[in-house]
Amino acid sequence: MPAVPLSSLHATAFVTGASAGLGRAFTDMLLAEGVRVWGTARDPARLASLAAHPNFTAVVLDLRDGPAVEQVFADASVSAGGFDLVINNAGYGVFAGALEADADVWHGQLEDMLQTTLRLGRAALCGMRPRGRGCLVNVSSLAVEFPLPYMSGYNVAKAGLSAWSESLAYELAGTDVRVIDLRPGDFQTGFNRSAARGSGGDAPAAARVWARLGRNLDEAPLPAHAAADLRRALLARRGGIVRTGSFFQARLAPLLSRLAPWSWRHAVQKKFFHLS
Ligand SMILES: NC(=O)c1ccc[n+]([C@@H]2O[C@H](COP(=O)([O-])OP(=O)(O)OC[C@H]3O[C@@H](n4cnc5c(N)ncnc54)[C@H](OP(=O)(O)O)[C@@H]3O)[C@@H](O)[C@H]2O)c1
Repeated sequence: MPAVPLSSLHATAFVTGASAGLGRAFTDMLLAEGVRVWGTARDPARLASLAAHPNFTAVVLDLRDGPAVEQVFADASVSAGGFDLVINNAGYGVFAGALEADADVWHGQLEDMLQTTLRLGRAALCGMRPRGRGCLVNVSSLAVEFPLPYMSGYNVAKAGLSAWSESLAYELAGTDVRVIDLRPGDFQTGFNRSAARGSGGDAPAAARVWARLGRNLDEAPLPAHAAADLRRALLARRGGIVRTGSFFQARLAPLLSRLAPWSWRHAVQKKFFHLS
């Protein structure tokens, strides 16, 4: 059977955080498939290398702007004539002690990574439902299944996003509008470099965890691997959970963790992060 280009299913796409890492890989993959992409960054200069592509439109969007992102999305949607695919990818981590860091640090992370991301997802689906088709990809994390020490706000935000994706899957059943809960494991991106470091993150145990997280990312697959997995899921018209990452993180560990008791998973995680 001849390969179908993704553009025959999704002519237009909106990708948040298109300037780097996974979002950049998703954007490159979509452009290579002939999809017209509206991609975001906080600073348009970060999209300069994409700007010359005839199918790319740069959009300035900052998750910290809260409700204002809805207008940014609406303007882009008008210029695209509606989006068939929206990838809620932009995000950052905060590495700090759950109890030591200021409560505002965690509230900020939840506002940006959960509430504002949900606003964008809602706006996307409200555009897709009347058209009777479309796909929303919420980029969550395997941290939902394996929460990371000293990243409690991040774990909560991603768990909330995954729970929201599942609620939507029930509410959109019977329509041709799909939601993918994309759960990446570790990928070689600038994620750790751009993570904010807060109080309580410098204790010896935290320093060991931080070093481990750094090694994980250095040894992880390249973002193009996640883009290839997402492409396959989109072409197969999949909805629901899609895991991507190394064979161990994305396949073996989730399977073992479903079979094993919580105490086993907890002990393995502690050992992995040198917490015992
Ligand atoms: N890398 C991993 O191992 C991994 C694993 C699981 C999940 N994820 C998730 O994958 C997504 C992408 O992360 P990444 O690894 O590709 O990280 P990255 O290389 O640091 O890229 C992050 C992207 O998000 C954008 N961004 C960051 N803060 C933003 C804000 N406040 N408002 C708007 N845009 C913002 C950045 O854009 P500008 O800085 O140019 O504005 C950049 O394009 C995130 O949601 C992350 O949680 C990553």
